[in-house]
Amino acid sequence: FGRNLKLSDVVSSTQDELRRLAEEGALEGTLVIAEQQTKGRGRMGRSWLSPAGKGIWMSLLLRPPVALPYTPQLTLLAAVALSRAISQLVPVSIGIKWPNDLLVDGRKISGILLESAAEDERLRYVVVGMGISVNLEQEDYPEELAAKAISLKMASGAAVNRSELIAAILEEFERLYELYLEQGFAPIRALWEARTVTLNRPAVLQTPQGVIQGVPRGLDDMGGLVIELEDGSSRTVYSGEVGNGQA
Ligand code: BTN
Repeated sequence: FGRNLKLSDVVSSTQDELRRLAEEGALEGTLVIAEQQTKGRGRMGRSWLSPAGKGIWMSLLLRPPVALPYTPQLTLLAAVALSRAISQLVPVSIGIKWPNDLLVDGRKISGILLESAAEDERLRYVVVGMGISVNLEQEDYPEELAAKAISLKMASGAAVNRSELIAAILEEFERLYELYLEQGFAPIRALWEARTVTLNRPAVLQTPQGVIQGVPRGLDDMGGLVIELEDGSSRTVYSGEVGNGQA
């Protein structure tokens, strides 16, 4: 991954840059990295703070031979890859908040945005957007994010080399992706479940089907989150968010 690389100074969003390349036939593993994004976007229609030189703002192209309903599995794989790569280089304890936010001390350090193009349930491509707050300072965050977000530098007390981290992420991602294609979702699921902070504690989930309250107990085979409801029955959700704000 990353052998086809496009480095930019300023873009609106690396997602749009890479989607354009994907439509032109770019190969799997193509990576777009920007120093700064003027219209960085997050999940649920939110914007994503992407100041110049202080973070990793990048998008990776996948062309997985799997059907559209399985994209939640790739979402979870991305979170595992990122958390493993960061843990190798930075002495912080990372928890994954379902589906793919990375938290340190309950504050968000990284977010992942998957966008896919499909035809008749077959995936044409998936663009995996990764945003990591690497060397941001407290004063870089607007007031509404200050208590909910944190950078690797703030969390660890030292500046982090972005190139080394990008290399580690690509290596982890490629390794896990190959494992996934060979052995399916089971090993990824185990890695995700071992790193998450979402299981076995009461949660309020915002989902496309409405608000669900219960206790998340694990993942199902497709990558859905299985939630135990108060009456003992269970519901599985494939997209949404725990709680409401960014973190
Ligand atoms: C989220 O947590 O809401 C997901 C945030 C994803 C941000 C990254 S930064 C690189 C890529 N380009 C974007 O515009 N968004 C993603």
